[in-house]
Amino acid sequence: MKESVQEYYGKILQHSNDLQTNACCTSGPATPDFMKTAMANIHDEVASRYYGCGLVRPELLEGTRILDLGSGSGRDCYLLAQLVGKQGYVLGVDMTDEQLAVANRHIEWHRQRFGYASSNVEFRKGYIEQLDALGLEDESFDIIVSNCVINLSPDKEAVLREAWRLLKPGGELYFSDVYADRRVPAALLQDPVLYGECLSGALYWNDFLNLAKKAGFLDPRLVEDHPIAIGNDEIHRKIGHIRFFSATYRLFKLAGLESHCEDYGQAVIYKGGIANHENRFELDKHHLMEKGKMFPVCGNTYRMLRESRFADHFEFFGNRDTHYGIFEGCGASLPFATGTNPEPGQGTGCC
Ligand SMILES: C[S@@+](CC[C@H](N)C(=O)[O-])C[C@H]1O[C@@H](n2cnc3c(N)ncnc32)[C@H](O)[C@@H]1O
Repeated sequence: MKESVQEYYGKILQHSNDLQTNACCTSGPATPDFMKTAMANIHDEVASRYYGCGLVRPELLEGTRILDLGSGSGRDCYLLAQLVGKQGYVLGVDMTDEQLAVANRHIEWHRQRFGYASSNVEFRKGYIEQLDALGLEDESFDIIVSNCVINLSPDKEAVLREAWRLLKPGGELYFSDVYADRRVPAALLQDPVLYGECLSGALYWNDFLNLAKKAGFLDPRLVEDHPIAIGNDEIHRKIGHIRFFSATYRLFKLAGLESHCEDYGQAVIYKGGIANHENRFELDKHHLMEKGKMFPVCGNTYRMLRESRFADHFEFFGNRDTHYGIFEGCGASLPFATGTNPEPGQGTGCC
């Protein structure tokens, strides 16, 4: 499977427009202005070989150490390099020589463009299931990102296990990927186009949630999602009624989170001060906190804010002395907005 993916991203695809669906190509919500500014500083060749399916944009990155799993031509690494600043560091890992060659070719160009004395970005060849082979130490990254890659891995459990190992406590895996509304039949895994296009390797969303919990990430948070428009009759015929979604999750490394959102009567107030998010902070799709306004939270959300890099930007109220039951709406139905499911030929096009 890995050879087939290397062939697809190294030899068959030369450009984002070569993709046959928009599964591996972001077409989600509007890009915020600060990201547009950062994108204007990306070399054309790097941008032209972008195959991501979401906008990887965790907040409060200044000075952090970030690892990008399956960094491809390096677009997200070079975006994040601007957001972490000179004191931060971004490492991209990918297994495909051709992708790494593009990423490495433009290190100096970006260093000059960002006005840094030395580059804060590196790329290394490796498998995201075996990061110990690169000598990466336990708890050595603040944030791990990934964009449309984990679906391509034949051992997703190992990827999540490695992410847990490499994150500092309170750190997070913030990543975009493709998910299915049901388990994809094993026979479709053999189709190199369906697999390479990030469809047949996609996890059924509930299997993903269980895998994440098994790796220690007990309360995965959905940040954003959108249905994928296939836009290719032949591919649509092969996948039948399976619906695919692109979704961004954030998974905090916090030992002992609870399995559900339990109510202890706790609350937080966002104090502001996070660059580009001055007036409101969006932890996930269900937690949009306006500056200065009291926001009731469950025990897990309280910990995600209190025991992470966000702590200084919040006021915290309450403790766990009294339990008031479960938070309303903490259920387990399909988490994605279905919208109007796109028909074959109605694809929104790539990029
Ligand atoms: C869909 S592309 C996304 C690339 C990049 N994240 C982007 O947004 O442009 C998938 C990338 O993941 C890499 N990849 C897939 N499986 C991998 C694995 N098991 N280990 C390392 N890299 C992998 C491929 O080489 C390819 O560059």
